[in-house]
Amino acid sequence: MEREKSELPPYSTVAPVEWPRRHLAMRRSRGLRVVTLAFLAFIVYAQWRQIQPATKSNTSQLSIQKLQDDLGVCAKLKSKPKDPIGAGRHRNARYINGHKPTLIKNATIWVGEPAKGTSDVESRAGVGYSWVNGDVFIEYGLIKKVEVDIDISTLSSDTLVWNAKGRRLTSGIIDMHSHSGVDSLPELVGNEDTNELSDNITPYVRSIDGLSPNDHQIEVIKSGGVTTSLVLPGSGNNIGGEAYVIKHAIGKPDGRNETSAADMLADPDRNWRYIKMACGENAKRVYGRAGEAGPFSRLGESWEFRHAFEQAAKYVRSQNDWCTNAEAVGIENVDSYLPQEIEWETLGAVLRGQVHVNTHCYTIPDLEAFVDHTNEFKFSIRAFHHAHQTYLVPEILKRAWGDSPPASALFADNMWYKAEAYIGSEYAGKILYENGLTPIYVSDNPVLNAQHVLFEAAKAFGYGLPYHAALASVTTAPAERLGLGKRLGKIKPGFDADIVVWDSDPLSVGATPVQVWIDGTAQYENPIELVKPFETDFDVPKDIQITKDEPQPTSDLIITGISKSFISQLSAGGNDRTQSLTAVVSNGKITCLGSCTNELQTAQNDGAATISLENGYITKPFTAFGSLIGLNAIDAEDVTDNGGSPEVFSRGVDGLALDTKKLRFAHKYGVTRAISSPTYSGAATHQGTSVGFRTGAKHALAKGAVFIDDAAVHYTLGVSAKSGSTSISNAVGSLRRKLLEAVAANSTADAFSESAFLKKVVEGALPLAVTAHSADAIAAVLKVKAAVDDAIASAGRDNAVRLVIIGGAESFILADELAAAGVGVVLSPLFSYRTSWEQRRALTGAPLTNGTAVDHLIEAGVTVAIGLEEDWIVRDLGVLAGIVYKNGGGKLDEGQALDLAGANVYKLLGLEDSATAGDVDEFVVFEGSPLEIGSRVRAVGDGLGEVKVFEYE
Ligand SMILES: *[C@@H]1O[C@H](CO)[C@@H](O)[C@H](O)[C@H]1NC(C)=O
Ligand SMILES: *[C@@H]1O[C@H](CO)[C@@H](O)[C@H](O)[C@H]1NC(C)=O
Ligand SMILES: *[C@@H]1O[C@H](CO)[C@@H](O)[C@H](O)[C@H]1NC(C)=O
Ligand SMILES: *[C@@H]1O[C@H](CO)[C@@H](O)[C@H](O)[C@H]1NC(C)=O
Ligand SMILES: *[C@@H]1O[C@H](CO)[C@@H](O)[C@H](O)[C@H]1NC(C)=O
Repeated sequence: MEREKSELPPYSTVAPVEWPRRHLAMRRSRGLRVVTLAFLAFIVYAQWRQIQPATKSNTSQLSIQKLQDDLGVCAKLKSKPKDPIGAGRHRNARYINGHKPTLIKNATIWVGEPAKGTSDVESRAGVGYSWVNGDVFIEYGLIKKVEVDIDISTLSSDTLVWNAKGRRLTSGIIDMHSHSGVDSLPELVGNEDTNELSDNITPYVRSIDGLSPNDHQIEVIKSGGVTTSLVLPGSGNNIGGEAYVIKHAIGKPDGRNETSAADMLADPDRNWRYIKMACGENAKRVYGRAGEAGPFSRLGESWEFRHAFEQAAKYVRSQNDWCTNAEAVGIENVDSYLPQEIEWETLGAVLRGQVHVNTHCYTIPDLEAFVDHTNEFKFSIRAFHHAHQTYLVPEILKRAWGDSPPASALFADNMWYKAEAYIGSEYAGKILYENGLTPIYVSDNPVLNAQHVLFEAAKAFGYGLPYHAALASVTTAPAERLGLGKRLGKIKPGFDADIVVWDSDPLSVGATPVQVWIDGTAQYENPIELVKPFETDFDVPKDIQITKDEPQPTSDLIITGISKSFISQLSAGGNDRTQSLTAVVSNGKITCLGSCTNELQTAQNDGAATISLENGYITKPFTAFGSLIGLNAIDAEDVTDNGGSPEVFSRGVDGLALDTKKLRFAHKYGVTRAISSPTYSGAATHQGTSVGFRTGAKHALAKGAVFIDDAAVHYTLGVSAKSGSTSISNAVGSLRRKLLEAVAANSTADAFSESAFLKKVVEGALPLAVTAHSADAIAAVLKVKAAVDDAIASAGRDNAVRLVIIGGAESFILADELAAAGVGVVLSPLFSYRTSWEQRRALTGAPLTNGTAVDHLIEAGVTVAIGLEEDWIVRDLGVLAGIVYKNGGGKLDEGQALDLAGANVYKLLGLEDSATAGDVDEFVVFEGSPLEIGSRVRAVGDGLGEVKVFEYE
């Protein structure tokens, strides 16, 4: 398929001179002949001029043809793009001839808009939205009919029929912030095309020029129901370049004509253009050099923006002046061509309203400055991305130039990773929506795996964004902001036939596509379908309120309305959801669960407060393992971090820094314990001993603050190990050497030295936790363990090294070997998406792969826990366990799923889990299942003597 790449701007490239005047040196002998010929030629020319239009203008040597072209460009410069039509098309421009029509029978459909007659006010409140049963007929790449019981005999005889069996059907998910294709996975230096860092202001570069259809992640993303993405340049530059909206169908296997970026364009006619800009930390970090180069500060960044827009404004004015003049005097009488420069063409088009601006800005000063620029230079902005602080300043957004305030493109709860991401709220979506603004959830793939961008919307729903607005945030809202709202995001006649049928409610935990259509073409021949009960019991939580950050401490409490308890010491409970139990807390301990008649009387007499739940869950607390919490407050801010020390072995307990925001949130989300070790060479690497501590403690000397000084001995293998010891083989060898030396050693002077801890490892008194992702590195570690275990046996002892793998993206490849060696795995991340070379064989799940690492490990009998690759995940341990539970085909019950984020950590490390023994003073009380979207923590017994009660605002 051929498409004119240069049909739209830059309207024409700088034209070559069409009649080059040659200055040939003529030989004297030919001179006269030439003069004579020239005279004759002039006569011919003069005659010819009578009948031919001029090829040169009157006043100069300019080409009339080019001037005419330039005048044509003037018309394009003035054109104001409109959103391309949806209804009224007979066929989708992306339709490939020969693809058959399809009838999807018996679906439960989310149309994407309320019933006819719903007012705007009602619609905003969610009135008129519902799931409706019906059939969808698609033909020529378009949705043609959405009706109850479409009669197949009325359709063409080659129609494919697909039975949805009542399952949920939505429009394809849209991710409005992706770098898929330009930041291909696994990351390789040679494939990195995200940022053009040769200059800070690069409006003239285009993400499409680096877009690789070979990025497998584009297919992985589609497997999460994402059919459309806005592929933006990165945020290293204040002005990063042009962006493109693609669909996730590539080449012949996906039903396309060819494998090309052009073929992926969602709107082949390119009605709208898109650009990425970015404020804040990045540009100053990339470019700022004192006394040499800017921007060094946000002040400099605003100057860079304003200066760029000033150039663009001059450029636009020079073009407009030329066009006005040419139209007034006629092109024969102009003495120059239309001014055209690729450098300023895109930004000129921004000022002409032809480009949808998407700007990365986190903080209030960034937002305010950028809104100022929009008013100074009169251009509108479609969305602020990474807009963490927009929820604090709706009025600033409403001051932006243009017809409608910018949307906020957000993550649900990924924050704290740098200073500008330190202030943020999981309730941002709810608050923005209540203020009349538009939240949109995005992946920033590969920052988050865009396969699960719907999960961001689902979490936002769990944090109080209304159901219809949460679905809109990844369908109709981004479609509208992309200027494609008449084509994408809804299930209505005239819309592109991008459709997903889900195995469960799309906003429930673990929702997975059963089939995906792009432009009416089914994308999977043999999709893996998860074994799930057909009807999920997803009770859509309603009116979710904001939970206050600061809890109320108490020691006596009555909790009613508990349906399930997962605490073994409390005999009552079981899994009967119909029951409604009462728990009584006295002196910070649960003393009774059941009807508790006597205890209740006493507590009431003592004036204990009551929390009344509708569907209460009491569980053991979660444990954060492998994160930086307790050793870091803001990931990228060195002053808040314990620091990496590849050369030195140290103890986490010696760097413990408590009472941080991360820890307060951990506590608020039921993570009362953490086990953290110093890093080796950056986040997600470990070296030294990990400390086990309670997240609610104010300082390390508080009673109960540290429950174990040294929980495990950590090393990191794999690529990051190279930073300290030159090669992977050297790192493996040195680990083996150290362990064998420890087997032979008799005693060590310093009880806290590396060799002393290694001695404990070979004596079986401390576990060895090795961070590694690749099956190769894990195989190497298993061989080291075998060699060391042999040496231990030769020394006449009968213990073995207790080994735990952290990371483990490819561990499933060695599931049987790990099980045989009794080695457990802390999956970190729980769901790898092949970000690094070491993770390139990771399984990304249905419909592409049958299960992920966790499924294979559990089936092989390996003990698994969920690790935290990044600290913001502390809020999500419950729902992550929920995904394993829901998508595991019944191999885990709810209690076993919860153990993935608690009890299994202790089992792996060989530690006593004191939360499961003795008095029940460590527990979490949830409203709703912690494994499902929308549950809320209401009380936390944190083992520090008090119970913290969380109230709603
Ligand atoms: C696909 O290729 C066929 C054959 O070359 C061509 O006729 C058709 O126009 C192409 N379709 C698109 C959408 O490019
Ligand atoms: C320029 O040339 C065109 C055609 O040759 C003629 O019609 C027009 O009057 C000329 N204009 C001037 C200002 O000489
Ligand atoms: C649609 O599917 C559901 C669930 O499988 C089934 O109960 C129902 O009978 C089906 N309806 C029709 C019209 O086939
Ligand atoms: C450890 O002690 C034994 C017995 O005293 C001795 O033979 C051996 O050499 C010692 N090993 C080391 C490494 O010091
Ligand atoms: C997926 O794996 C499970 C468990 O090993 C197996 O029972 C099932 O048949 C597999 N499904 C497919 C489609 O291969």
